[in-house]
Amino acid sequence: MKIVMLGAPGAGKGTQAKMISAKYGVPHISTGDIFRANIKNGTELGEKAKKYMDQGLLVPDELTLALIMDRFAQDDCKNGYVLDGFPRTIAQAEALTKSLKDNGDALDMAIDVDVPDENIIERMGGRRACVNCGGTYHILFNPPHRAGFCDLCGGELSIRKDDLPETVKKRLTVYHEQTQPLIDYYTGEGILRTVDGTKDVNEVFAAITELLA
Ligand code: AP5
Repeated sequence: MKIVMLGAPGAGKGTQAKMISAKYGVPHISTGDIFRANIKNGTELGEKAKKYMDQGLLVPDELTLALIMDRFAQDDCKNGYVLDGFPRTIAQAEALTKSLKDNGDALDMAIDVDVPDENIIERMGGRRACVNCGGTYHILFNPPHRAGFCDLCGGELSIRKDDLPETVKKRLTVYHEQTQPLIDYYTGEGILRTVDGTKDVNEVFAAITELLA
């Protein structure tokens, strides 16, 4: 199973990708999470990526592609993966298609989690992420059992730096300019499916599992 999750920042790609990963036993690969882990660990890649992420801009393709190709080479990707936040530009999508094709392989599906911009700002304001394991919550729509702490590992929850309203607006602009064209790209490849991301988390997941059945 090789799946790409598409959608605006905050559409719920990460939330759904984690649920797909748990149900189908494929790794959840989030380029955003990998960049954030590198920033936390003070690596050279993290230092470079941070400059772009803090402004709501995309990290350059060459950095992102080197990182993701390295990740695909790891053993746990043999039976597939669910990609969250990659690809994000046409150049990234074409590189992914080519690298799969070179191995006689292809993606199974690209799932667009469709949420209008007006819902996004509200979601980002309430998002909390675990500083330890990256678990994601929302103070109203998906609260942790114990306020301020992760259900999965007990780690502390914090607000992502790029979730400040001005940065979210910039991320939405960048999304419409650079990432939304992937909807047409994967429609052309015949693998695009769309789910209504404004529904409750479990309803969105039910729609996705129906697509994957
Ligand atoms: P990344 O981490 O990928 O951020 P993003 O795409 O902007 O997506 P988010 O993680 O913000 O949102 P999401 O759709 O996963 O939503 P979530 O499930 O958390 O990227 C961050 C940055 O890294 C980029 O800006 C860029 O700089 C860089 N980067 C990453 N990949 C890159 C690439 N390939 N190329 C270049 N640069 C790259 O949900 C959001 C909130 O809503 C949560 O609080 C959640 O609990 C809640 N929620 C989820 N579903 C629902 C629902 N159905 N109803 C109500 N609330 C919900």
